[in-house]
Amino acid sequence: MKGWIKSHTSDRYLIPIREQMINMLDPDARVIDLGCGSGDFFIRAHSKIESGFGVDGSKSFIKYAQNRTKNLNITNLAFKHRMIDQHFKPKADFTHATACLFFHVLPQELAVQILKSTTTYSDRLIICAFAPPENRKQRFLMWLDQRFTSHYRHYREYCQNGYMEGLIKKCQLHIDDIADTFDPTIKIYSVKL
Ligand SMILES: C[S@@+](CC[C@H](N)C(=O)[O-])C[C@H]1O[C@@H](n2cnc3c(N)ncnc32)[C@H](O)[C@@H]1O
Repeated sequence: MKGWIKSHTSDRYLIPIREQMINMLDPDARVIDLGCGSGDFFIRAHSKIESGFGVDGSKSFIKYAQNRTKNLNITNLAFKHRMIDQHFKPKADFTHATACLFFHVLPQELAVQILKSTTTYSDRLIICAFAPPENRKQRFLMWLDQRFTSHYRHYREYCQNGYMEGLIKKCQLHIDDIADTFDPTIKIYSVKL
């Protein structure tokens, strides 16, 4: 049910951003998606990449992603239910690690640890994340979107620490490119590791 609701709400809103991220991947990309949710990004990307491995802490999202993959006969994707913590280290290496609206939901100390550890198993990061609002209207809409979530405290910390750019800089990683999306408060950050 949770997966179905997501696929008909935020997944739909994010389609143009997912397409933008897919265009940044190569056909031979082996990708890990951190906090993959209902698997929508990978299900859209599967024919344009070599393989995808999605990890999420929500059992119902992972079940939904696995069922969709099976029903669509997609064979190059795998999804695993697991909370990503500071010890998370996948068994394989990847050409890319992706994350979409993931880092602001985490306690920021954990976000730093997870971001740093991607350097041990992937060559490049493509991260779609909330960016600083440019005016009061954007600030209010972001607040409204996040205020009633269970991770609001982490979102506040994320903002106070300089949003995604602040997090990437704290990990001493170098941002190659920041791409705008149709939503002025969401940007796509590319980092070569
Ligand atoms: C805002 S949603 C974004 C989902 C997905 N990336 C997307 O683009 O639709 C954040 C996701 O992170 C997952 N999550 C939060 N903390 C996590 C953790 N420590 N380990 C794994 N997944 C986590 C949640 O279950 C949720 O699916």
